Amino acid sequence: MSAKPQLPPSPKDNKFRQALGLGIGIWDYMEKNQRELGGTFTLMLPGQGPMVWTTDQKMIKDILNLKEEQVDASLVQLPMDLGEKNTVFLNEKAHQDSRKLVIPSFNTTRLKARAGVMHDIVTEHINSWKPGDKLNMPRMVGDITLDVICYTLFNLRHGERKERYKHLMLYWMLEATSDTMFTLASAVGAKRFRQWMNKKYLKRTAQRKPGDGKKGLLPWKRAVDLKVQLADMVREDIRAIRARGDMEETHTLSILCRATDENGQLLDEERIISESIGLMIGGHETSAATAAWFMIWLQQKPDVNKKIRDEVIDSIRKEGHFDAIKVSELPYLTACLNESQRVTPSAVGFIRWLRYDTQIGDWLLPAGTAVLPNIYLTQRDPAIFGPDANEFKPERWLQGGGKFAPSEFMPFGGGRRACVGMNQARQQLRIIFAELARRVEFTSEFQNTTALPRSRMIGGQTEPEKGVWITVKSVRPENFGFEDAKNTPAEKLSA
Ligand code: HEM
Repeated sequence: MSAKPQLPPSPKDNKFRQALGLGIGIWDYMEKNQRELGGTFTLMLPGQGPMVWTTDQKMIKDILNLKEEQVDASLVQLPMDLGEKNTVFLNEKAHQDSRKLVIPSFNTTRLKARAGVMHDIVTEHINSWKPGDKLNMPRMVGDITLDVICYTLFNLRHGERKERYKHLMLYWMLEATSDTMFTLASAVGAKRFRQWMNKKYLKRTAQRKPGDGKKGLLPWKRAVDLKVQLADMVREDIRAIRARGDMEETHTLSILCRATDENGQLLDEERIISESIGLMIGGHETSAATAAWFMIWLQQKPDVNKKIRDEVIDSIRKEGHFDAIKVSELPYLTACLNESQRVTPSAVGFIRWLRYDTQIGDWLLPAGTAVLPNIYLTQRDPAIFGPDANEFKPERWLQGGGKFAPSEFMPFGGGRRACVGMNQARQQLRIIFAELARRVEFTSEFQNTTALPRSRMIGGQTEPEKGVWITVKSVRPENFGFEDAKNTPAEKLSA
């Protein structure tokens, strides 16, 4: 007789309490379940199938090795109408083909070519600050990320069109991932909800009714207005790029405009709009949340911040200038960001929906189950990272190579659906934090505590509940450490 599929144990809380546990204080809730049920447990949420979270290495390896045909990504519980042909929702060959369309935008040559502009963008932001300014770290990095996206996707650096793109991207993202939208999507099923929103968007586009972009009586009105307006702008750009026919253009939208589908046809406009919008949101809240936690660690550990500053100044000394590519490869800075993403990852898990009954580790799980490697708990597992696994110690990445397996360190997910923007995100965050350490002194409430604030889900990412408010104490000039870099001791430059 064949074995019957089974689910790992569940907490006693009802479905609504479980949903609340995931929404507010998700890390505490994960730890509580691990204490009570072990590293593998099932959560049952309203309007969804079972969700199996695991820290078990055998299970995680099986999840990373799942084949395209074993999973159904269209079931992802995302309320945003990205278009159902977006990479995130596609399956099997269509998914792999779709990744191939966007991956060339993030290859090493293109990233290196962008490093200098990323640095210019960070410099512009820092130059606009003065002592006493109060900044909320995730929103500030979100803003830098939008500037980078406007450049990489649309080749826009300044001007009204760029500002309009930024405005629409930000407000559409906020609107489309609001708690209300998540609630509506879980009430009717996220896929059905997205398809319904997409119909509204297509109808309004066909009628040429972009709306006023204001809130209305219907909770989805503003999200539809903003999507129509944003898509209209992308459509105008697609038409302009195709009319120019300039094969030398290298920004991502131009690459998508020249790309062909599996039948050798140029991609249709809606497909390009869908992928562009996906790339806009893919890097935004993820980078903002990652930076928020990293800033807290640096505020709590000024010695670490100082070591980063010294490393950056050493690099300036060696190169004679701020070389954004060299800086983004600095070992101590890299170790610090890795360590922050290890202990305080922005994604608590990554998800795969099983199409069939599937053997994952020692469990035969039923079709329709979602399985998630538990990034947060795994990356704090003493069996992998040692007895100091809960501590922030960048040195663990430097001593003995700091090599951890893809099933042990996975802030960008893994396997066939791993994050396509990983290298861009890492490069951008390293440039931001190198310049913050070199040029800006901050004060904040985090300097006086070793405790981390409670976490909360924002746009699907785990962020400090009340943001990360920091006050600018002083801003050093742009050329700080350049002229005298060759002769001045690092101690003096960073005083
Ligand atoms: C610190 C920043 C970022 C973090 C922590 C992050 C994290 C993740 C994670 C956990 C996944 C799911 C992977 C999986 O299921 O295995 C993912 C997927 C994805 N990310 Fe990122 N991401 C970041 C930045 C970016 C950027 C900058 C972009 C693009 C500009 C991007 C584009 C995507 C896309 C398109 C996917 C879907 C891939 C697929 O379904 O095949 N991400 N990301």
